Amino acid sequence: AGGRGVGNGALTFKPIPPNTLDTFVVPNGYDHAVVIRWGDPVLPGAPAFNLHRQTAAAQAKQFGYNNDYVGVLPLDKGGKRALLVVNHEYTNEDLMFPGFTSQDALTVEQVKVAMAAHGMSVVEIERVAGTGQWRAVASGRRPYNRRVDALSSNFELTGPVAGTDFVKTAADPKGRTVVGTLNNCAGGVTPWGTVLSGEENFNQYFVGGDAAPEADKPRLARYGISTTARYPSGSRKWDRAADRFDLAKHPNEANRHGWIVEIDPYDPESRPRKHTAMGRFKHEGANVIVAKSGHVVAYMGDDERFDYLYKFVSDKKFMKGNSWVARKHNLTLLESGTLYVAKLDQTSADEIDGSGKLPSDGAFNGKGRWIKLVSGNRSYVDGMTAAEVLTFTRFAGDKVGATKMDRPEDVEPSLHTGKVYVALTNNTNRGVGSNPKADEANPRNANRHGQILELVEDRGDNTSDAFTWSLPIVCGDPADPATYFSGYDKTKVSPISCPDNVAFDATGNLWISTDGNALGSNDGLFATATEGPERGHLKQFLTVPFGAETCGPFITGDNRSLFVAVQHPGEITGATVENPASTWPDGDYAKPGVVVTWRLDGGPVGS
Ligand code: FEO
Ligand code: CA
Ligand code: CA
Ligand code: CA
Repeated sequence: AGGRGVGNGALTFKPIPPNTLDTFVVPNGYDHAVVIRWGDPVLPGAPAFNLHRQTAAAQAKQFGYNNDYVGVLPLDKGGKRALLVVNHEYTNEDLMFPGFTSQDALTVEQVKVAMAAHGMSVVEIERVAGTGQWRAVASGRRPYNRRVDALSSNFELTGPVAGTDFVKTAADPKGRTVVGTLNNCAGGVTPWGTVLSGEENFNQYFVGGDAAPEADKPRLARYGISTTARYPSGSRKWDRAADRFDLAKHPNEANRHGWIVEIDPYDPESRPRKHTAMGRFKHEGANVIVAKSGHVVAYMGDDERFDYLYKFVSDKKFMKGNSWVARKHNLTLLESGTLYVAKLDQTSADEIDGSGKLPSDGAFNGKGRWIKLVSGNRSYVDGMTAAEVLTFTRFAGDKVGATKMDRPEDVEPSLHTGKVYVALTNNTNRGVGSNPKADEANPRNANRHGQILELVEDRGDNTSDAFTWSLPIVCGDPADPATYFSGYDKTKVSPISCPDNVAFDATGNLWISTDGNALGSNDGLFATATEGPERGHLKQFLTVPFGAETCGPFITGDNRSLFVAVQHPGEITGATVENPASTWPDGDYAKPGVVVTWRLDGGPVGS
């Protein structure tokens, strides 16, 4: 972890300016390359990508669409081989299929292509000798390479909800096996070498909520599924290819999505699992830290306006070491535990006028509590069973009065300090109409730019039920008085809007990527120290091509390589394959892809 302390101001790169270029921009002294892009071969026998002859069978062997989370797990001690694990969150059919006119006009085969383009990829990568560059292993044996998708992959349900009536369907009367994973957004690598992946906006895949049983409708509605229209606007209409997406026929199918998925990339034969003990909501992702007690703690956000921040504490303790016994044990850690939701106390709420003006004590901060919702099979929420709390977790948060946040996205503990960082991306509905007004943790009404929240568990114990919190960064144009950068000289910080994903480098600096920059420039990646005099000195490290969102990011343990996912390049209304708004990366039409950035002199990224 380096001897210079935590994120101690070693970020010496020259920040890049905001821009709207259709290129990938890195600072002077750095280079970048595409590691893998949509359609590239992943599995043996994958055909070369053919834009005009896409089939579900081909796509199921190729790299999927709209790469989001990126994890890199070592395959050797020398740092020469690794596994790249990537989420494929969703598809842009208008940018995938030539001649696209509407979802209705897609062929059933094209719908299946889209289903196969969802999910996750595991890809063996190799370092380009002597540099921080990595490339996909092109030939020879690639025994770890794997695709899971929304079309045909089988997932095991674990935990208290598995086998209950909430998740039984005609195709799965035992309620234990789910076909497909949906809208996998962010994620995290566990200390035992697996990857967690959040099923986020699963609502958009279901139709027929208007004809679902009346008793189910409030639950569907709370999770964003229309109960008034068969095909809500923006529907993907996947029922055209698979009956299970029709809630009029299979109302429980929606309950089988919205979980945290765990995949073991080191065992290509292993079944990926959906862990019901971690609750069901629009899971952005999950990141794990081993607490001092040995229990593992996962931090999680529900990415919806006015939804909640959660943590899960395992029943069992982490077993150290690389033995087969330890690994087998650790693979069960997320199957049983205690789920909490956050309540942030407001110490000076009367001073919060929604403008972003600092309170009189000079900081947005306060205390907070983790409210226990369920532990094992025991519910702590009045009127709800444990299975109800875990399947309809949003209602449990509502009942206990959890704090309504500005869209909790990635939540990640620093393994250097144990402090937890939350990307609250924006909430333009805050304070609008009868909606909740600004509070100290969400201090702006009609919040377009978002904020970063830092959470410090009491006694440095990640299993604690109490914490303190503060906002180190209130995002926006630093010239805007309603922004805050830990008191750092605002003339020296980069403008930032809509933080989405967070990550740490090997010295503990915080890296923040953005989605939907409301300042009008391309999305990008930023870095700042979290401690010491450089806290709040936020600098822009890269920008992604026009119309894209910056996902990942992931920095390798040796600090020599920084990966990001370029998601939905050229995604603007009216763009098509034939008239693309971006031609990245190959100069023809837009393709999502994973990029690695490295320092030309081989030094640590950022410093
Ligand atoms: Fe898929 Fe909340 O970002
Ligand atoms: Ca995200
Ligand atoms: Ca992250
Ligand atoms: Ca996003």
